[in-house]
Amino acid sequence: MTTIRLNLSSPDRSHDVVVERGILRRLHQELRQVADFSRIGLVTDDVVRRYVAEALQTELRGRGMETVLFSFPAGEKTKSVETVLDLCRRLLTSGFDRRSVLLAVGGGVVGDITGFAAAIYLRGIRFIQVPTTLLAQVDSAIGGKTGVDLTSGKNLIGSFHQPLLVLIDPDVLATLPREAMQEGFAEVIKVALAADPILLKLVEDHGADLLDPLHRKLEEVIVRACQAKCRVVSQDEQEAGLRRILNFGHTVGHALEAASGYTLSHGRAVAVGMGAAIRCSELWAGLERDQATRALGVIERLGLSTKIPAEVELEAVLASLERDKKIEGEVCHFVLLGKIGTPVVKAIPIRELRMELEEILREMA
Ligand SMILES: NC(=O)c1ccc[n+]([C@@H]2O[C@H](COP(=O)([O-])OP(=O)(O)OC[C@H]3O[C@@H](n4cnc5c(N)ncnc54)[C@H](O)[C@@H]3O)[C@@H](O)[C@H]2O)c1
Ligand SMILES: [Zn+2]
Repeated sequence: MTTIRLNLSSPDRSHDVVVERGILRRLHQELRQVADFSRIGLVTDDVVRRYVAEALQTELRGRGMETVLFSFPAGEKTKSVETVLDLCRRLLTSGFDRRSVLLAVGGGVVGDITGFAAAIYLRGIRFIQVPTTLLAQVDSAIGGKTGVDLTSGKNLIGSFHQPLLVLIDPDVLATLPREAMQEGFAEVIKVALAADPILLKLVEDHGADLLDPLHRKLEEVIVRACQAKCRVVSQDEQEAGLRRILNFGHTVGHALEAASGYTLSHGRAVAVGMGAAIRCSELWAGLERDQATRALGVIERLGLSTKIPAEVELEAVLASLERDKKIEGEVCHFVLLGKIGTPVVKAIPIRELRMELEEILREMA
């Protein structure tokens, strides 16, 4: 068992991230250790419900704990304000009060919905992250960013709301499709390139073998990725500066997701986005050619493409990039690599961004 303490400026928000194979088999103990809850709401999607959440509910009920299961259709389309309102209404009719807790049992979509509902229901109740995709285990379940999409863009409504605890059981990845494992590795490689060269070496050494959820080194990969994310978040919880480095690959990645009408997954879009950011780093941040080749190589070794998919229009990507960045403000904080493990954040005025990126994206199509 590895316990990582995420220390934040307020002790109330600081919490543990626990990684252990099989930890969910003693979920009741873990819950009892943190607090005494009036009711436990297991929030999940209709896929994870069958694989994981129903079994957890049975276990908790068997221990005499008051639990209710709330399930939504799987997929990014569910990450909407409507889903959150629906969940809040159901919480109210099921008698959830300020002594209740929500468990987000699922991938990043479930985590983001549950965290946001917990942030606003009765002006804020407690929640626990129980991530079931690799992407959620190494990234989205950590750091307290919660929120939902609008049709015009991703994560446009949300808040920072820290979980009480993050429980990571790599055993739940056994049912995860290989494609979803690859998508999780996009975020592992992101944090490795930006903040942990030792993790990068670990991923290079074992390559695509790590896509096997039972691989003996997978738990170490998850632990290192979580430690790296916690180090960054503890220094900059609200993304005023340092935390921006975790957006490496996301400027172009988010634009690609939108341009594909959200048919391209987050992980795959981030892989292409990192490809673009690596090429830009050679031009604007002095990243040496052999380091760029190494960085692109590790993405491809995990079976992720760095090419813009044929079905996505380049013009749509550029338009969505501009729109997205206008919402953020006058300048875009574009994350580049000076060296592997040494990110630099370049502030580029939005009107220049399109011009600067256009040629690179054309070469990547
Ligand atoms: N809050 C943050 O800091 C943050 C960070 C990164 C990504 N995100 C968000 O996370 C989302 C992507 O997360 P995701 O990739 O986990 O997507 P997801 O939650 O949609 O899960 C992907 C698919 O895997 C299925 N699944 C989940 N666990 C499973 C299991 N154990 N076995 C079999 N199938 C399983 C789900 O039902 C779903 O169909 C995006 O909305 C993204 O914006 C948020
Ligand atoms: Zn991401």
